[in-house]
Formats: sequence, C-alpha cells, structure tokens
Amino acid sequence: MDITDLILADHHRQRLAFAVLDDVDPSDTERLGALWGDLAQFLEVHAAAEEAVFYPELLRLADEGGEETRDAIGDHNEIREAVEKAAAAEVGSRDWWDAVKAARSANTEHMGEEEDDGLPDFRRHASAQLRNDLAVAFETAKTTAAAPQLDTDVKDPDQYVEEHS
Ligand SMILES: [Fe+2]
Ligand SMILES: [Fe+2]
Repeated sequence: MDITDLILADHHRQRLAFAVLDDVDPSDTERLGALWGDLAQFLEVHAAAEEAVFYPELLRLADEGGEETRDAIGDHNEIREAVEKAAAAEVGSRDWWDAVKAARSANTEHMGEEEDDGLPDFRRHASAQLRNDLAVAFETAKTTAAAPQLDTDVKDPDQYVEEHS
C-alpha cells in the first residue's frame, strides 16, 4: 500500500461525490443534505489527515522551503471556509449551491496541484517502506474512531510549516 495511491483514490471519490450532486433533483433537499453531509465530512477529514500524516513528511523529505506545503494549507483553508458557508446556508438554496460550487472549485484546483506537484515529489523522495507506513497511518487517521482527534481547524500556513520543520 502507498499513501500517494490512497490520496489519489480519495480524490477520485471526492470528484464522484460532487458529480452525484449534479444528478439529484434540486428540490430533493433531503437527499442533497444527506449526500453533502457525508461529502463535507470527507473533505474535512481528508485534508486534516493529510496535514497530520502526509505534509509533515513531505516537508521533511521533499519540500524543505515549505512552499508546496504552505500553498496546500492555504487551499485546505479555502475548502474549509466554503464547507462552513454551506453549513450556514439552507440546503438547496442559492447560497448553499454557491458554497458547494466554491468548495468544488477550490478542491478541484487543489487536488490537481497535489497530484501534479506534492505527490510526485513525495514518490521521488520517500522510500517504499515509508509510503507503506504512512498509508496505514493515513487510513487509520480517517476512521470513525480516530477522526475526531484530527485538527480540522483553519491553520496559519506559515505557522504550520514552522511547527513541522
Ligand atoms: Fe490536500
Ligand atoms: Fe488531497
């Protein structure tokens, strides 16, 4: 198992989950709310698990200046803020759709950056053993039992890089 594969797989599931929303009858707020609830939770847990497990190792091995990491934490914040906006809006309302779209766009851009920069850099610098160990840690961090211990708060990117350097 390899953490970079698991991150890619999560990204695919996120794209699918946004795509499912496209096919829901817009008046069916019960389904929209249920589907979005799980997706919002998944987005938060995925980002927080990356911050707990992946980015400290990326920083250590392949992002010594912290540029990629700083950018990623900023993106995670943007996704979190859109998720919060959706939570504050009435499901199915214009404001809600706007917030869901903002989360989708921020997430799509961010996943592309991880897939084009962070993950390739990590594959080039991390051993197969480490990629395997982090895969187990990443999946464990996202479990129902462990996820409540993750820090899903907005973070200052500079402070994050400093704390993990
Ligand atoms: Fe991320
Ligand atoms: Fe990601």
